Amino acid sequence: MAAHKLLLLPGDGIGVEVLAEVRRILAFIEQKGILSFEIEEDLVGGAAYDAHGVAITDAAMQKAKAADAILFGAVGGPQWDGVPYDVRPEAGLLRLRKELELFANLRPAICYPALADASALKRELVDGLDIVIVRELTGGVYFGEPKEITDLPNGQKRAVDTQVYETYEIERIAKVAFELARVRSNRVTSAEKRNVMKSGLLWNQVVTATHKAGYEDVKLDHMLADALGMQLVRAPKQFDVIVTDNLFGDILSDVASMLTGSLGMLPSASLGAEDPATGKRKALYEPVHGSAPDIAGKGLANPIAMIASLAMALKYSLGKPELANVLDRAISEVLADGLRTGDIWTEGMTKVGTSEMGGAVLKKFETLLSA
Ligand code: IPM
Ligand code: MG
Repeated sequence: MAAHKLLLLPGDGIGVEVLAEVRRILAFIEQKGILSFEIEEDLVGGAAYDAHGVAITDAAMQKAKAADAILFGAVGGPQWDGVPYDVRPEAGLLRLRKELELFANLRPAICYPALADASALKRELVDGLDIVIVRELTGGVYFGEPKEITDLPNGQKRAVDTQVYETYEIERIAKVAFELARVRSNRVTSAEKRNVMKSGLLWNQVVTATHKAGYEDVKLDHMLADALGMQLVRAPKQFDVIVTDNLFGDILSDVASMLTGSLGMLPSASLGAEDPATGKRKALYEPVHGSAPDIAGKGLANPIAMIASLAMALKYSLGKPELANVLDRAISEVLADGLRTGDIWTEGMTKVGTSEMGGAVLKKFETLLSA
């Protein structure tokens, strides 16, 4: 059996703790003879800055380019607030996304029935919620040039970020959304601000044209991004697949996370284009949550988003969609058993730490596999 090349990038803060739980699951999968892995590990974010003065080294980038899948924890923390902009922890993640051309970011927001009461919204609004935000990840205001702060003659400063999209960037992300919708509930909502932004206008036109050119079986709606934000908290179950740009996708996915009970629940997959020769795509899997410096190192973090990110890797990169379903079911059943990390804890539930939660999911996974 050919070994799958994995690169583990734990990063900073709780990234280290949650990735440790994934390492246990990987070891189990190997020991069971289900898959074999060639695992490399490296530093990213503040950890890389402390060791090497950069947010990710060229050597780590080489490993990333060679990997079948990258499993990424989180980056950042207040101790790096003062470091130069170009080497701030987030720069490591952005370099990975850009250089690997991971343009398609899938952020599913699923509300497990057992967690409906941990959501900030009423149970009936979120119970059974199952939506995916498809976020464009390598363009827009995150990467547009110029991006600078300059000095003006009058002593003031001027800051510029550039929101820019070209046709092909919108077209390829729209196709990802339509194809994903086809294996779900066949509905796509595209979000932009065409009422104020030229890039929004083009986004709307290209999504519409892409839809006409081969995806008319999928139901397409357009919504202004601000209205979509409102609808996400008013009636989130109206959505199936939401496709939007890099910045709106960043914000809307944080909003969506709270529908599911906690930011600690949301996994994500960042995918590149399929290589026509091998059929493989570059891929990075990471929880949507950050490094949570306030609870880092205390064993309190919720590892579920990270474990669910591994499930996405099994599905999209490692050719094991069935195994991914079993892992997702293990998560769901552990929650149904009443185990909760602090972020999702409610009265009457059993409060556990990171490794207890990880261990319980692994045990359930083992049980389900031997059943
Ligand atoms: C995310 C994060 C990143 C982003 C940060 C860490 C650069 O918020 O993945 O949502 O803004 O994309
Ligand atoms: Mg974000």
